[in-house]
Amino acid sequence: MRVRVVGGDLEDDVVLIHSTGIPVDENYMELFLTLDALKRSGARSITLVAPYLGYERQDHVFRDGEEVGFEMIVKVLETLRVDKLVTFDMHSIKLPDMFKIPVIHLSALQLFAEKIKNYKLEASNYTLVSPDMGGIRRIKILSELTGCEFVTIEKDRDLATGSIRDSSMEGDVGGKNVAVVDDMISTGETIKAAVELLKEKGAGKVDVFATHAVFSPKSYKILESLPVERIVVTDTIDIPEEKRFKNLEIISVADDLAKAL
Ligand code: R5P
Repeated sequence: MRVRVVGGDLEDDVVLIHSTGIPVDENYMELFLTLDALKRSGARSITLVAPYLGYERQDHVFRDGEEVGFEMIVKVLETLRVDKLVTFDMHSIKLPDMFKIPVIHLSALQLFAEKIKNYKLEASNYTLVSPDMGGIRRIKILSELTGCEFVTIEKDRDLATGSIRDSSMEGDVGGKNVAVVDDMISTGETIKAAVELLKEKGAGKVDVFATHAVFSPKSYKILESLPVERIVVTDTIDIPEEKRFKNLEIISVADDLAKAL
């Protein structure tokens, strides 16, 4: 890794934009090396814009003997002297508190709300759905922004295999058009289980919204086969051409990021 200054002065305040989608470890390693090179080359301060941060979901020990991957990431970023972090829709509202440095925590929910308001105008009814209890805060905010009602699914995930063992829900979605809203899509299993349950309960058209399109290798095959109108994600992670299936819609967080900077 070598930093080459092409105009400007590295003894400046630097803003580094680097997301850590798949391949996560490779992207993190590249980020760590870049941070080291920048500091060694005299950067006065570094604001890291990491729209998506891998390992966020490993924020505590789920099963005995596990690591806390995200705590380790926080330690490394701080050791490499990142001064400020800008990121989007972290997995949990508590995650910024794991950092000692300031964290600007942005959200795509406002962008989703604008889309949903338009869809709601087309539909006589529109209900928001959180695919698990962890998304309750997110769905309440979106409900306030859109004026739509919401329901929450209870998801039971097998921690060893990652597969969804069971899903159940309170609330009536019979005949209603719905939007499933999540922070990220990784394997696609959460969304698949939610869509199947909603259809079983008689839901009409289903839309899906998720900030981070992590899209692990088999996910997009699962996603493109689901009976949904559209899957709306943002560009916090670059989505290669082969993962862009037919009803995928990508909206940009660039304006929000520019405003925040
Ligand atoms: C879980 O708590 C998250 O909010 C997402 O629902 C989950 O990470 C999605 O992962 P996957 O697509 O692998 O089911």
